[in-house]
Amino acid sequence: MRGLAVKGPLLLAASTAVAVMALAVRPASVGAQAPGSELTSQCASCHALTKPADATLDRLWSRKGPDLWYAGDKFNRDWLVAWLQKPTVIRPGGVLWFKHAKPGEPRDTIDSAAVEKHPAVDAATAGRLADQLLSLKSDGLVPEGAFKPEAANAAMGKLGFSKLRGCVACHQDAPGTGGVSGPELYDAGQRLRPDYVIAYTRNPQQFDPHIWMPTLTLSDPDLQRITGYVTSLGKESK
Ligand code: HEC
Ligand code: HEC
Repeated sequence: MRGLAVKGPLLLAASTAVAVMALAVRPASVGAQAPGSELTSQCASCHALTKPADATLDRLWSRKGPDLWYAGDKFNRDWLVAWLQKPTVIRPGGVLWFKHAKPGEPRDTIDSAAVEKHPAVDAATAGRLADQLLSLKSDGLVPEGAFKPEAANAAMGKLGFSKLRGCVACHQDAPGTGGVSGPELYDAGQRLRPDYVIAYTRNPQQFDPHIWMPTLTLSDPDLQRITGYVTSLGKESK
């Protein structure tokens, strides 16, 4: 008992000293912070910020948010900054749509009330988080310049998206038009970088070996046209 009585104040003194030291060194250490530590503390509970070492089906099934480890190849900065302050629904059924699907006729519907709202942050935080996100790169999955705007033909691309290649079964290209098992693409022109859209459509399993978007064997001209259409969506609005 006596030992404890003595230890208490000593420990307190010691920890106070540490706290004071931490305070004293704080201004100098801000610049030296590991990049993305704000991301890690606030976002890593739901999002993978580094490439998963075990990209198993279990991991995919139990993840709470979409992967962000290739965010720097994926997003446009303006969209990120705006969305982080005012998040809108991208996946109508949440990250695992079938958890919120209600069986019905002629097709299943989504119980959108059951899908949780995304946390929002203020403008300054959104700017910092966007920069941290944009520093996360996929290491070559998204080749720069793969999309050739001059080869794009949005009218043909729309036909491919809606009729010929069946993208519309899983993705909406206008609010309320299209499937819900994939993310909406009606604001893809603001949200996604064209080089990412073409790389993802060419081979979704490069990004996650178990993701349920099929690899459709599309020719390069077909991919260019569809990417031209997808990245034209939502460009005028806002
Ligand atoms: C409680 C879990 C949770 C936390 C915490 C969380 N997110 Fe999310 N996040 C989600 C879910 C779920 C989605 C998918 C929303 C949708 O598609 O409608 C999402 C979507 C996103 C998207 C869009 C992704 C895409 O592919 O379209 C970004 C960007 C994002 N989150 C960033 C962040 C950042 C930055 C933080 C930390 C400040 C954060 N999130 C914290 C669950 C979370
Ligand atoms: C069977 C359903 C299905 C079909 C068909 C399908 N997709 Fe997908 N798509 C998905 C799913 C699931 C994802 C990934 C969802 C996630 O990250 O949460 C996805 C992701 C994407 C992404 C990346 C979006 C993002 O936010 O990361 C693009 C771009 C895309 N699909 C385009 C297409 C195009 C173009 C076609 C037609 C050629 C197509 N998809 C056909 C289900 C589908």
